[in-house]
Amino acid sequence: MAKRERYLFVCVNRREEGAPNGSCAVRGALDIHAELKKSLKERGLAATRARACTSSCLDVCWAGPAIFVEPDGYAYGRVRLEDVPEIVDALEQGTRVERLVLSEEEYTEPRKRSQPAPGDGGE
Ligand code: FES
Repeated sequence: MAKRERYLFVCVNRREEGAPNGSCAVRGALDIHAELKKSLKERGLAATRARACTSSCLDVCWAGPAIFVEPDGYAYGRVRLEDVPEIVDALEQGTRVERLVLSEEEYTEPRKRSQPAPGDGGE
């Protein structure tokens, strides 16, 4: 198999229902991965342009289902099954779906955001 231009890592980690941060599998990540894989193949992108892989936890559970896109270095968050065609369209066009791209802040767990660092005068 040829090296693909991009690899999409879909977190399919599963935690028990009610786990504080939730998990991507509980929010439908397995179906999202399957649809992504199917759609890439149907559009003829799977062999050279992009491969959809499953992943363990990507450490943005609060924003899952999450998909990391490499080598571009961005992540999609709160992905729904209905978003897959738009994600594949963007891949085909060499763009990304901006409304789903996680901001820098979203990589931090919500309850840990905006806490002043020690020595910042917040204590
Ligand atoms: S469970 Fe998916 S990012 Fe942690």
